[in-house]
Amino acid sequence: MGRIFDWIDSRFGVKAPHSRFLQRPLSERINYLYCLGGVAFVLFLCLVVSGALLTIYYVPSQDEAFQSIVRITREVRLGWFIRGVHKWSANLLIIFIILHTLRVILYKAYQPPRELNWVVGVCTLVVAFASGFTGYLLPWDQKAYWATEVGTSMAGTIPYIGKYLLYLLRGGTEVDGSTLIRFYSFHILWLPVTMALLLWAHFHMVKRQGISGGL
Ligand code: HEM
Repeated sequence: MGRIFDWIDSRFGVKAPHSRFLQRPLSERINYLYCLGGVAFVLFLCLVVSGALLTIYYVPSQDEAFQSIVRITREVRLGWFIRGVHKWSANLLIIFIILHTLRVILYKAYQPPRELNWVVGVCTLVVAFASGFTGYLLPWDQKAYWATEVGTSMAGTIPYIGKYLLYLLRGGTEVDGSTLIRFYSFHILWLPVTMALLLWAHFHMVKRQGISGGL
């Protein structure tokens, strides 16, 4: 394995630029709670891979979305498994982001110079919730429809901007095929790309500032 990696590295050159970061000494007060962010990142990667596989069979149209989900679950080889991985990773991601946030609060790691990383972190949380909300509509069953109907109606009650926001979210006045396409686009493209950029900034700052030293 080592020889194969060395062969790739001699052509690709990944070892040297990263070894300084990977071999950096850490504070002795670091403990397992510092792994929560890393677990959240692994879950994000699982979501990207399983989601990319689901797009092969999922059809984002109001006539076919529900049937395509039934097909993925019952007929496509390992489709039920990939769907399960996607669902579990999504739920666990939210749990682990919240636990990671609690660790940051407990250790007061939001204080300068890490305040901007806290703000970027809050944005990842918002994007994660938005991804969950948009993904929930995609099975296009009764539960999905009514959850979106209620969720978007709530946005519609915001004073002054609510009416416009409702229209923007639904792509019209009702939850219909336009809403499905809109949510699909956000779920598989805009939100994951935004999340990837936010995580790049998040890790860049962790790398620059080092990890905070514990309680
Ligand atoms: C998908 C979402 C997120 C991922 C994958 C992620 C990942 C990470 C990782 C791997 C670290 C390094 C150390 C550790 O794990 O504790 C870290 C540090 C940090 N994260 Fe996150 N994070 C996410 C969301 C958040 C959120 C929601 C907040 C706060 C609202 C946040 C605030 C911070 C701060 C302030 C640090 C520096 C901590 C220190 O130096 O002790 N992160 N994050």
